[in-house]
Amino acid sequence: MNRREFITWVGVGGIASSLPVALAACSPKSTDSESPASLSRPDGFQSVGTISELSQKGYILNKKISTSGVLVVSQSPDSETITAVNPTCTHRGCTVEWKAQEKSFVCPCHGAKFGADGKVLEEPAQKPLPTYEVKTQGDLILVKANT
Ligand code: FES
Repeated sequence: MNRREFITWVGVGGIASSLPVALAACSPKSTDSESPASLSRPDGFQSVGTISELSQKGYILNKKISTSGVLVVSQSPDSETITAVNPTCTHRGCTVEWKAQEKSFVCPCHGAKFGADGKVLEEPAQKPLPTYEVKTQGDLILVKANT
């Protein structure tokens, strides 16, 4: 093998051996699989975060769950009462914000207000925010989003 053949042989080998690493780095599954949010279970629930995170931030907005995402809030400081809703305003589709002091979801676009149970408190929205089933397992918050 002459020098030119050797360099070509090493170059091709180097590219071939690094290809699986490059493909894994580009795959969206490689990062999602490390996130607890991507863990779906046989019972249909998915992890959206932790009670520790909820207690610290006051809410968890997870956009990886369902097509519209899930907004999880606690109505008490000790996270005893946890609610999960679809955060997409039913008026024109803005993302609602949780106002802990008022215990309500408020839309920043046109001012619609929803109760912690998703029901409309103030227009212009006419329909409630869809709610999701929630349960906890240890420190994990699990939500069963329909879509
Ligand atoms: S989009 Fe929410 S009130 Fe209009």
